[in-house]
Amino acid sequence: MTGVTGMTRRQALRLLGMGAALGVSGCSLLTRTPLPQLLTSTAPLPAPYAVPLPLPAVAKPSRTDAGADYYELAQRPAEVEILPGLRTPIWGYDGQFPGPTIRARSGRRTVVRVANSLPAPTVTHLHGGHTPPESDGFPTDLVQPGARRDYVFPLEQRAATLWYHDHRMDYTGPQVWRGLAGFFLVDDDDQDKLPLPSGERDVPLLICDRSFQADGTMPYPARPDGPGSREPFMGGVLGDVILVNGAPWPRLGVDRARYRLRLLNASNARTYELALSPGGTLTRIGSDGGLLAAPRPARQVRLAPGERADVIVDFAAYRVGDHVELRNLLGEGPQAQVMRFTVERDARDDSAIPATLSTVERLDPAAATATRDFEFSSGDLGGHTGWLINGKPFDVRRVDARPKLGQVEVWRLTSDVAHPVHLHLAPFQVLSVGGERPEGPPEWKDTVELREAQTVEIITRFTGYRGRYVMHCHNLEHEDMAMMSTFEVV
Ligand code: C2O
Ligand code: CU
Ligand code: CU
Repeated sequence: MTGVTGMTRRQALRLLGMGAALGVSGCSLLTRTPLPQLLTSTAPLPAPYAVPLPLPAVAKPSRTDAGADYYELAQRPAEVEILPGLRTPIWGYDGQFPGPTIRARSGRRTVVRVANSLPAPTVTHLHGGHTPPESDGFPTDLVQPGARRDYVFPLEQRAATLWYHDHRMDYTGPQVWRGLAGFFLVDDDDQDKLPLPSGERDVPLLICDRSFQADGTMPYPARPDGPGSREPFMGGVLGDVILVNGAPWPRLGVDRARYRLRLLNASNARTYELALSPGGTLTRIGSDGGLLAAPRPARQVRLAPGERADVIVDFAAYRVGDHVELRNLLGEGPQAQVMRFTVERDARDDSAIPATLSTVERLDPAAATATRDFEFSSGDLGGHTGWLINGKPFDVRRVDARPKLGQVEVWRLTSDVAHPVHLHLAPFQVLSVGGERPEGPPEWKDTVELREAQTVEIITRFTGYRGRYVMHCHNLEHEDMAMMSTFEVV
């Protein structure tokens, strides 16, 4: 560990120590463990559905050759209009929030040069990427202000809705909050052959929550390097404004036709249970790791931080002029609203939802060569409260598991309060949740929500690359306060 990261770790722990002053309110009654807290806006908030849905710009390669496509992203401060009439300072990839969408192809090497023009170090991670360790954004592989780094993504993986975001140790929460996140969509030939909605009817929706001061700023309560502290928010920071693609409660006019919505929960700590109002079907076709074997119609789709769901909504089920709200059943008041579609016109629709979408190999627990247990809990850290895995805070010098390349392992994950657990490198399947096998055929995931006091067993195969990766809680405040563990594929 370098001197700098050692200092930030100590600062974080000092802040955590003050968490003991928390009362019962905001804590889980079961465990007295801090839960996410709402940060209240003082800015005047717009009426819902007043702002049109923006679509993130699609990045163009700066160059392309026989071996790869090359992209350049400049991380820089910018001012954008998020709330009507107010200027909000952000940190954005190319000064945008969300950052530009990268559309890449399976098996096609994609090189992203990230230049840091921010006043702080950064780390960029491709979430869901099957990436060699040197390009995976290990939390201490810092890109200093004024420096740049080439992240090389071989993309030896199936089509999927991925995203990229900041991953700097101890500061991921504040840096993502300021705007450092964007979509990275991987396409492949198998998916291209399917008659799924495409073009303007393939809509990425990055959902996150933020809060705003009267002057338009989005201050983050955690300022470990300055005055103030994050301890009331150690359970997670919730905003009271729901943003989709960076716009508050936006609206989108749609045809009476099928749409593919690529839902991403990019929030620091908020979990959503998304449903249509006045009712309707969200047909799930894809998960974190790409297409399901077969479509699965649902009334609601639950997404913890970091998770994605590709769904088809057929607006032909409504009449021209109908409003269809996307609501969050876990939210209250304005936080129960996400965005609204208005059915504007009849239109031709050549799309279909095929009964077979892809082939998903089922990983067999009988093939597992190791079973490992990981307990996610808060705990005492020498007089301080911290977020721990197996009783230990993240320490870059320590390796907690050494799975062998090519081998299948079962990891048993247990929670105190809810924790969305994410593995780098290795997509997994959920074997059991609270002792029950999940319904339906297996799905490829990279993030799974552990509910309060629950055990989830996952099965994965470590392929592709040897080296150091992390597993962590994707509640970004938990992650920053040490709920992370290093594994090394050997
Ligand atoms: Cu989306 Cu390790 O992160
Ligand atoms: Cu990741
Ligand atoms: Cu957590």
